[in-house]
Amino acid sequence: MSYTKHYSVLKKECIDTLTENAPKGEIAYFADLTFGGGGHSFEFLYRDPLFQVRSTDQDPDALKNGEARILNEKMSGRIKLFNTNFVRFPGIAIESCPEVFEKGGFQGILLDLGVSSHHFDEAGRGFSFRFDGPLDMRMNYTSDAFLTAEEIVNEYREEKLFKIFTEYGEEKYAKRIAAKIVEERKAKRISTTKDLENIIFHCYPKEQRHGKTNPSTRVFQALRLEVNRELEVLTDTITHLIPLLKIGGRLAIISFHSLEDRIVKNLFKDASESTELPVHILTKKPIVPSEEEIFDNSRSRSAKLRVLERTEFKKDKNKYKKEFRQE
Ligand SMILES: C[S@@+](CC[C@H](N)C(=O)[O-])C[C@H]1O[C@@H](n2cnc3c(N)ncnc32)[C@H](O)[C@@H]1O
Repeated sequence: MSYTKHYSVLKKECIDTLTENAPKGEIAYFADLTFGGGGHSFEFLYRDPLFQVRSTDQDPDALKNGEARILNEKMSGRIKLFNTNFVRFPGIAIESCPEVFEKGGFQGILLDLGVSSHHFDEAGRGFSFRFDGPLDMRMNYTSDAFLTAEEIVNEYREEKLFKIFTEYGEEKYAKRIAAKIVEERKAKRISTTKDLENIIFHCYPKEQRHGKTNPSTRVFQALRLEVNRELEVLTDTITHLIPLLKIGGRLAIISFHSLEDRIVKNLFKDASESTELPVHILTKKPIVPSEEEIFDNSRSRSAKLRVLERTEFKKDKNKYKKEFRQE
């Protein structure tokens, strides 16, 4: 497993903003709902001996690696790792983390969306066209609740393939690729990453086959989003995390493409306008990685971090405007 190579995106920015309001000298609870290699979770633990972390991941490899790291770093008393999809975290937190709510709730909750470098580097997971492997792409490969990429490619109707390649991948040759997949699978089931890469490669015009971006990039991204129902799960989760925050607690979400970022932006806006729990959006514009971070880790280049804070009272925008004008 290659978790040692994992680079945590916007690590300092996330931990700084989530810990900023933590009361000094008191226990504070943080939730890292995308544990991955544990980069962000452990950064909370290193920041202050009074910080406690509750984390989730749905990937069996991430969990196994995480449990080993927790033991190795003797942190069992300060972090709990739950094997679950984060959409179920609100229920799990209420049931299994009463200590957090005795303190008023979480001081910070983090989601660092998508897959980790481990997924792309393990041929057997089928996320990458760089290696030959089975077309799987499930983060939770022990669950039958998710279709594999192989099932999608071989069983979806042509129109549905076209739709996901267009909507999730913004693939300009989506029509051609969907038609070719349907033609090829009549002769033989498409079962490996290299089978699929080969089909996509030949759908691209010759002069565009060897550009900076591999022709398979967009279709593989689209399939990954469809397999793991990433956008659906994100949409169903965000609003339910807000009541888990204490007053002054913050929710930070790192997204990696425009579809995810749009969901985060819109749901944050809806929450700030709702009459339910008062929240305040701290990032009018998302925080993005520095040039230095992008140089060190090119995968971070598309990252966007948005943060909201649960407040005691609704901030009256007009009142602020008025006060500002009077100064
Ligand atoms: C980008 S990585 C996180 C890396 C981590 N922040 C670090 O610094 O090591 C995303 C992780 O979240 C997990 N994940 C993605 N969506 C999930 C979901 N809906 N529920 C639980 N885990 C999820 C993936 O399995 C992956 O391990």
